[in-house]
Amino acid sequence: RLRAAAFVPGRPLASAHTIEDLRRLARRRVPGSVFDYVDGAAEQEIGIRRARAAFDDVQFRPRVLKDVSQVDTSADILGARAALPLVLAPTGFTRMMHHAGETAVARAAARADIPYTLSTMGTTGPEEVRACAPEARHWFQLYLWRKRAASEALVERVDAAGYEALMLTVDTPVGGARMRDVRNGLTIPPTLTLRTLAGMAARPAWWWNALTTEPLKFAAMTGFDGTVEELVGRMFDPALSPADFAWLRARWPRTLVVKGVQTVEDARILADLGADAIVVSSHGGRQLDRTVPPLHLLPRIVAAVDGACEVLIDSGVRSGADLAAARALGASAAMIGRPYLYGLMAGGEQGVERAIDVLGTEYTRTLQLLGVKNTDELAAEHVSLR
Ligand code: FNR
Repeated sequence: RLRAAAFVPGRPLASAHTIEDLRRLARRRVPGSVFDYVDGAAEQEIGIRRARAAFDDVQFRPRVLKDVSQVDTSADILGARAALPLVLAPTGFTRMMHHAGETAVARAAARADIPYTLSTMGTTGPEEVRACAPEARHWFQLYLWRKRAASEALVERVDAAGYEALMLTVDTPVGGARMRDVRNGLTIPPTLTLRTLAGMAARPAWWWNALTTEPLKFAAMTGFDGTVEELVGRMFDPALSPADFAWLRARWPRTLVVKGVQTVEDARILADLGADAIVVSSHGGRQLDRTVPPLHLLPRIVAAVDGACEVLIDSGVRSGADLAAARALGASAAMIGRPYLYGLMAGGEQGVERAIDVLGTEYTRTLQLLGVKNTDELAAEHVSLR
């Protein structure tokens, strides 16, 4: 369509060779407050820096003379094969990053043959996301509402839509204090102020697209108007207990994942309660700041659950080398949030595709240089943690 041709930036994508390149491109494409909503974290943003540093500190131990002319990057994740040990994490308000929103992300994930997790805070309904890529693996992330009947209805909808897995996020009893959002005065939907008007002038393409495609539909999804922290405070249930997990376990017939585990104790408890998988995650440093880097926890948690449930990781994954490190330390897959959103902001669906492509290329090369023929061969012997 004319609008897409005229305004969707896509040309510079080919010059983005790393996730950081996509991040830089993204920054130039969207209003500063939108970029900061994605890029930022909670409080002093110390946790996400440490989570990243943990990956940076990994030292590889390559083996040689291993004939790596052919490598197989595919991986088993929650009972089925994916092209990479990679999953797209749930992210709220995705149409704010780019007007094509969740469907763009779901299509790119489907083409890359990796699962995508739609968020409860998504700005496109579960049926529409499923329908835009019917053959793909769809997961749904659940926040439990204070109004439990609404959550129950949502779970039924997701079940009826045929989602493969449900992922309950448990690290958000209240909203994290994302100081960039506070300073930027970010609201959902964005409020028209002198500042946003100035932002429009600086990023006309983003505003044009936002205003011409069902104006800022995300407000309609939640029926809410305010800051993210207010939204969480009003809607999310801060009183969750193991009984709520049991309630959900009884209702959800397929794979049940718990996201936001940050201690060995909780990993054990959730495995005992019957979680099929857990995600060791600090929510990208967006909730409690200064938690233990997920990568440091990973081998301890994998050892503690001892095969009782699968373990995934996220927060700070930015390269194929990070994927290899996560997998070598026992995760079945790593999830990414910001990396694909940088791609989305930089260039819509093609940008997401580029982000996955970058990680896939880096992962393949890392396997070859490590002397590893396939994902399953990656093991603790290939890394050393300082
Ligand atoms: C998130 N995350 C998130 N998690 C969740 O369970 N439900 C949600 O709605 C959201 N929303 C959300 C929005 C944005 C903009 C970001 C960046 C993140 C957290 C997400 O699923 C994941 O845990 C982190 O993004 C992982 O860290 P990285 O990859 O962003 O460093």
